[in-house]
Amino acid sequence: MHNLFEIDDWKIIENGFDSSKQKQAESIFSIGNGGFGQRANFEENYSGPSLQGSYVGGVYYPDKTRVGWWKNGYPESFAKVLNACNWIGINIEVNGKVLDLNKQTILSFYRELDMKQGLLIRKFRVRFESGKELEIESTRLCSMADDELAAIRYSVTPINFSGNVKFTPYLDGKVMNHDSNYDEFFWEEDSHKVDLKKGYVCTRTKKTNFTVSTAMRFSFWRKDELLDIHPNTFSKDFYVENNFEHFLEKGTKYTLKKYISISSTLNHSEFSVIPRSINKVRDAYVNGFDKLLDDHISAWKNIWDKADIIIEGDSTAQQAIRFNIFQLYQTYTGKNEKLNIGPKGFTGEKYGGATYWDTEAYCLPFYLKTADPKVARQLLIYRFNQLDKAIENAQKLGFKNGAALYPMVTMNGEECHNEWEITFEEIHRNGAIAFAIYNYIRHTNDESYLMQYGRPVLFAIARFWAQRFNWSEDKKAYVMLGVTGPNEYENNVNNNWYTNYLAKWCLEYALTVNEKITDSSFERLSLAEITSWKKLTASIYLPKIEGSNIYLQQDGFLDKEQLTVNDIPENQRPINQHWSWDRILRSVFIKQADVLQGIYLFEDHFDLNTIEDNFDFYEPKTVHESSLSPCVHSILAAKIGRLDKAYELYLLTSRLDLDDYNCEADEGLHITSMAGTWMAIVEGMAGIRVFSDRVVFRPVIPKNWKSYQFQILVKNKPIKISVSHHEFEIENKGAEDLELFIFGESISIQSGNCYTAHTPKIKTV
Ligand code: BGC
Repeated sequence: MHNLFEIDDWKIIENGFDSSKQKQAESIFSIGNGGFGQRANFEENYSGPSLQGSYVGGVYYPDKTRVGWWKNGYPESFAKVLNACNWIGINIEVNGKVLDLNKQTILSFYRELDMKQGLLIRKFRVRFESGKELEIESTRLCSMADDELAAIRYSVTPINFSGNVKFTPYLDGKVMNHDSNYDEFFWEEDSHKVDLKKGYVCTRTKKTNFTVSTAMRFSFWRKDELLDIHPNTFSKDFYVENNFEHFLEKGTKYTLKKYISISSTLNHSEFSVIPRSINKVRDAYVNGFDKLLDDHISAWKNIWDKADIIIEGDSTAQQAIRFNIFQLYQTYTGKNEKLNIGPKGFTGEKYGGATYWDTEAYCLPFYLKTADPKVARQLLIYRFNQLDKAIENAQKLGFKNGAALYPMVTMNGEECHNEWEITFEEIHRNGAIAFAIYNYIRHTNDESYLMQYGRPVLFAIARFWAQRFNWSEDKKAYVMLGVTGPNEYENNVNNNWYTNYLAKWCLEYALTVNEKITDSSFERLSLAEITSWKKLTASIYLPKIEGSNIYLQQDGFLDKEQLTVNDIPENQRPINQHWSWDRILRSVFIKQADVLQGIYLFEDHFDLNTIEDNFDFYEPKTVHESSLSPCVHSILAAKIGRLDKAYELYLLTSRLDLDDYNCEADEGLHITSMAGTWMAIVEGMAGIRVFSDRVVFRPVIPKNWKSYQFQILVKNKPIKISVSHHEFEIENKGAEDLELFIFGESISIQSGNCYTAHTPKIKTV
């Protein structure tokens, strides 16, 4: 696969401007700070293809549902995180001609995403029709140290002339969502104000009444000398600007430093958002750009010190894993309990910025091992807080007695999704939430969370499963009809193995948790529930290919023509962009890990042969057209000793957006699957598993890596792992001793000590 941008260990680099890549680049070079985020749109005007995007976490609007054929049970709206006030704008004019990279001759262009320092940098030279040449350098940051601040340092140097240049820093709140269902404008104005070198725009979402105040300040410099300028001010609804013309001397650099603060009623009271943003931007302005920059860089350093993965000998892989970690932390830092992780983060509008099962199935394991356990706890409590809505949601679909169906897509707990085969049928999402509770507990043993928050969620989900199975007289087993598994290229199937298996496990786990209840104030399962769930779980139908250990994705899967991905001509990939939907549904091709997703989650339930046989059956049929897929296959490939395959799938998952494998990076990045990429190294290559009763290590190393190393928390204990072709080392960085199973052998590493051994040439289990 061809690399879209240059390879570098810490940077993404674009040398030379190609407007056909601009929308992809806008996504890939996005920056954010967990509180808000910004696509890599240009500060100056740009009339070429672009998706202008600034997103403020948690601020959403319920966009009226649009469907071809209404089905009972569809939600009225889809809650979307909104494209908000454009704060980056700085227009430049020379003799009445607006700087626009779509119009002038571009003499050079360089764009860089510096992931170590969290900076978006550009440097370019243009020639106007008049022959006048300008060089521009810009540095942009969304402060990681303070998630309400951002800043831009924008320098202009006239190369071959001295003369007037006009600068217009502005804020524009008149922003439309590109994905608005009815071309509706989601904002109304609260107020705006402009003054010399400062201003704010405060807008409010219709219906949901989120108020967002965006304030700016700026200063203007000739080299290091602060200039006293007297701009004109202009404002209109939703918009404020300052503009000034200044005489620039040939060859001299002039810099505009623009400071931004964004405050919203997600975190502050209605009355405080405007003064807050004004005060914060004033402080940032007074402290200066360099202070903001230093604080920002040291906040990133703290993240990298804990979460970095160092790969020696393979810059392609190194750049990719850092890009994935970088984007995850830009999207979610765990600081704000009201936020969750949208599949596109702050890099695009698709998926509406809402919460999917991706959070529990993919992101939670990442935060569990790289962040303080309260981050994972907080993600789980987010679902606890939405339990009532999940119960209501299940009631609407006819379930009773406190059964909960969590939404496929949500902002506030209400379902937003509106395709029947997913909204009503892709119910495995419930299982991922239950599994996440279990996963958190096996990492932390946080029994107080389990009893107070996990238990009610788990019981309500289990009640849903209990009602969703029905007895089949024909099969003499409980079956689950009309579902969509993780593989969305099959809809309305019966007995999706993954869903049945997960539901069975969930019922059993709920029964186990019930037995642990000692405090009588906590609700217990009724005797009737216990009896009927035990009966149910003993006879759940789990389809299998007869005479083999291969689990069947769903009833009838073998009726399909058993082709492999190699049978699809290259020019018809991805099939979702080339084939009609019915053709996809009838084909054997699998969008994303399905049976293998289950085998991955419950790996300790299966022997190695079973894992291998299922991998060999399903991997050749999987097109990996969901970003969530290749990482799971990569982990299993490493487990069964297919290191080349594991590596190939690792590159696919880690460079999915960087090289735009699925031709959709222009819409935004696949943030949630980036956690899966990280798992492909930690769980795949390093073979780390945290089970309830033990922690297991089986490190291997791809042949073209010299070494790799990282730090993680296992059961809350910090460890550092280094693996080379000769040996691997595990350092216990915690205060307590560490008990591990390394290639099956029980090892104890004392606090502060290292364990070193030869890295096996042939993988064992
Ligand atoms: C996948 C889902 C996923 C969603 C958001 C879809 O393409 O099939 O499993 O939840 O994207 O990432």
